[in-house]
Amino acid sequence: MDHKTALANALAALTGMEADALRDWMETPPDPEMGDYAFPCFRLAKTMRKAPPAIAAELQASLALPEGISEARAVGGYLNFFADKSAYAVSVLGKVLSAGESYGSSHEGAGKNVCVEFSSINIAKPFHIGHLPSTAIGSSLYRIYNTLGYNAIAINHLGDWGTQFGKMIVAYKKWGEKPVNECTVRELVKLYVRFHQEAEQHPELDDEARFWFKKIESGDPEAVGLWQQFKDLTLAEVGQVYDRLGVHFDSYAGESFYEDKMGAVIDDLRAKGLLTVDKGATMVDLSEYDMPPCIILRSDGATLYATRDLAAAIYRKKHYDFVKSLYVVAYQQNLHFKQFFKVLELMGNTWVKDCEHVNFGMVSMEEGTLSTRHGNVVYLEDVLNAAVEKTGEIIAEKSSDLEDRDAVAAAVGVGAVIWGVLYNSRIKDTTFSWSKVLNFDGETGPYAQYTHARCCSVLRKAEGYDADNMDASCLTDAASAALIKAIDAFPGAIKLAAEKNEPYIVARAAMDVCTAYNKFYFDNKIMVEDPKVRNARLALTDAARIVIKKGLYLVGLEAPERM
Ligand code: ARG
Repeated sequence: MDHKTALANALAALTGMEADALRDWMETPPDPEMGDYAFPCFRLAKTMRKAPPAIAAELQASLALPEGISEARAVGGYLNFFADKSAYAVSVLGKVLSAGESYGSSHEGAGKNVCVEFSSINIAKPFHIGHLPSTAIGSSLYRIYNTLGYNAIAINHLGDWGTQFGKMIVAYKKWGEKPVNECTVRELVKLYVRFHQEAEQHPELDDEARFWFKKIESGDPEAVGLWQQFKDLTLAEVGQVYDRLGVHFDSYAGESFYEDKMGAVIDDLRAKGLLTVDKGATMVDLSEYDMPPCIILRSDGATLYATRDLAAAIYRKKHYDFVKSLYVVAYQQNLHFKQFFKVLELMGNTWVKDCEHVNFGMVSMEEGTLSTRHGNVVYLEDVLNAAVEKTGEIIAEKSSDLEDRDAVAAAVGVGAVIWGVLYNSRIKDTTFSWSKVLNFDGETGPYAQYTHARCCSVLRKAEGYDADNMDASCLTDAASAALIKAIDAFPGAIKLAAEKNEPYIVARAAMDVCTAYNKFYFDNKIMVEDPKVRNARLALTDAARIVIKKGLYLVGLEAPERM
């Protein structure tokens, strides 16, 4: 039983009040010197008919202290409690060391499916830095839900359908110089850009593009063959970036996958009387909800992005019977999600309450905002390469004798980039700066990885320790106690991160352990003569190592043992 529950039970026994309510009222004093928990006695003023300071004094005198609490002290209207620090240290270390890597994991989600759609890149388009937040946040949520026992399903809703593929075919047939499978995505992008430039002078190109997209839709072998090749080529290239990022998908069912599933949705919308026709286009009127209409079919009968999203949502519910369905997509698409969620609701799909648009802010590079249209696209691959190269230089300087330097540079460089977008709440816009993300002393990925390597190095040099022979009373100094608290708080952070779909909560909890560990490391000599003290400090180091490694994993970083 945790301390707060034990204290609430003791207070309940004395006052006759509900233990649950008493537990909820328990606070944490602003300064650890004042105690570990505080009960605000004004909560009992009505029932006990006394002033809060008098209640605090009375409770202090008569309360039977539960195990693990060493002192109760009345201070004004509060009754403050002090935990028995060595007992607390023993219990936290016991929990972490016996659980090992599974510390913080749980079974709360057992048997429940959670769809996590993220990254959702577009075929024959750049995989650019704007896709980084979705990719990093989604992949982290995927790991977090799985760790809590859910069966998470990682979905890449590929942008692989629409008239742009007609344009790609026209451009390739006119100006392509080699077989598709020998092209790079960058070359395809160039062809696409050229199409737009030429179409300004020659609008008939657009008619040709429509014609070729129609051919894809009707299953013409040449058209479908080219489209498939564009897709294969793009997936092979992005696959390499996903591997570097440690990102995995269970499904690549993209927009094209829903081509044969939209008819039923449109029929259903019509049967429910939700469709109206305006200037030839078919739509769901949403004016009652202060939103523009959700267009379902264009005047030429073509389906739209939203039509495919409706079909995808319904398919996911049928196929996965999710308890939650998340869409990790930039806030620029807020309106789109509001609209199509509303349409799902109007259709009578009550499960739409379990769908959530997990939105996020923009990433820009220091020089300025990124945009595909102005040709200054920053490819994610280039950012990763630069990060790894710069990290390699720093490591060469810091630890010139490190074996495996390339592997470490890759883990730290890529990790720095991921951490850079995951360390703040999602909706904040991020400006990407090398000096910020690669700072080995700031609250960065490299710093967290470095602290992990430090723990490993301490344990390696000690060549083992005996956790059954330790004196936990040496873990009661401020630095050790703060570290133990940070370690104890970690499982709660994982749960909270899932509730709010905010990976930064895990990143910050892991960072709290890192800063606390480094303070502990500088305040306390670990390899002392007394084996009981040495064992206690090594056990604490091991517990910190376990938590930091898990935290790094959950946000998507590797944890090298040497740096
Ligand atoms: N491919 C789209 C884009 O790059 C993102 C897809 C988002 N997901 C969705 N279900 N609409 O803008």
